[in-house]
Amino acid sequence: MNNIVVPFADLYVQYLSIKDQVDKAIADVIRTSAFIRGPYVEKFEQEFAAMMGVAHCVSCANGTDALYIAMHALGVRGGDEVITTAHSWIATTETITQAGGKVVFCDTDEDTFTIDPDQIEAKITPRTVGIIPVHLYGQSADMDRIMAIARKHKLWVIEDCAQAHLATYKGKKVGTFGNAATFSFYPGKNLGAMGDAGAIVTGDPKLAEHMAMFARHGGLRKGDHQIEGINSRLDGLQAAILSVKLKHLPEWTRRRRQIASEYNDSLTAINGLVAPLEQSNREHVYHLYVIRHDKRNELAAHLTDCGVQTVVNYPFALPFLPAYARYNHRPEEFPNAYFNQSRILSLPIFPEITSEQLDCVCRQVKSFNLN
Ligand SMILES: Cc1ncc(COP(=O)(O)O)c(C=O)c1O
Repeated sequence: MNNIVVPFADLYVQYLSIKDQVDKAIADVIRTSAFIRGPYVEKFEQEFAAMMGVAHCVSCANGTDALYIAMHALGVRGGDEVITTAHSWIATTETITQAGGKVVFCDTDEDTFTIDPDQIEAKITPRTVGIIPVHLYGQSADMDRIMAIARKHKLWVIEDCAQAHLATYKGKKVGTFGNAATFSFYPGKNLGAMGDAGAIVTGDPKLAEHMAMFARHGGLRKGDHQIEGINSRLDGLQAAILSVKLKHLPEWTRRRRQIASEYNDSLTAINGLVAPLEQSNREHVYHLYVIRHDKRNELAAHLTDCGVQTVVNYPFALPFLPAYARYNHRPEEFPNAYFNQSRILSLPIFPEITSEQLDCVCRQVKSFNLN
């Protein structure tokens, strides 16, 4: 009866919906050979800053570099401690180490999967320099509480917005609270390029200049190297594609929220299943729609058998990865992140999902519970 296949995401369908605009943008870049920096990159930086309502956008090669560049510009050096969440993608923390810092993990709030502000102050030492909240899955962390702690202890804040383009906290966009905010435009992100791409936004002109310099071999003009830097550039093709897609982002975001609401309505009162919780003062942009289920692995296997693709984001909370074995962390230190890692399951969500596909996912989730 069910021959529908539901992919986790479908970037080709999205491309087809805006094909003429994307093809023209690509052709324009090729015709003008503006492959590295140049007008398309500058245009996207301006448009993204304007959409965010911030003064500066520094583009770079990906969201991982964005974190590293921001931390370098904020002056992280050997022995500095940076507090962040136990539940994220490893880019959030590997860049702390790359910048010379030490990763200090905090447990998460059980229901929003974001850093638990109640845990932060106990982790602050004289060596703490900053906090990196991650707006995980598309929902804002508790920014009032985090910013109050940062102000009290004179710490910088970098918001990792890789999964949260246009999400808001009390009506204000995430990425506008901290000293800087980093974005990924990895293809599957809510705003995705056709390759790797990233950016940092900030209201601080000095920080913006330092970040732009560092990302471009330490100089803003050819031959003028004020410092040693790295090579982390957004290329013209990606910038032109991102400019096209940026115009559609508000509509795609509305659609993601609508799909999430349909999932919420359909997946209520199912034994063992907890739908994602959206806090009343935060507008979630559902980069991922993450349910929790007591029998996660069995449910995932059942959905695979039914043609519904799912993903676990992420199978291990960061402190329990082999990459962080050196810290010898134990599950009791991060009970919520530990509890959630074996229960979370991301269901397909993308703006172009059809109602037939959506019905199919809901039906198959329910059919698992009937077994
Ligand atoms: C929370 C988070 N931070 C950082 C990154 C890094 O972004 P990129 O893949 O563009 O390097 C990602 C990307 O998956 C992410 O999800």
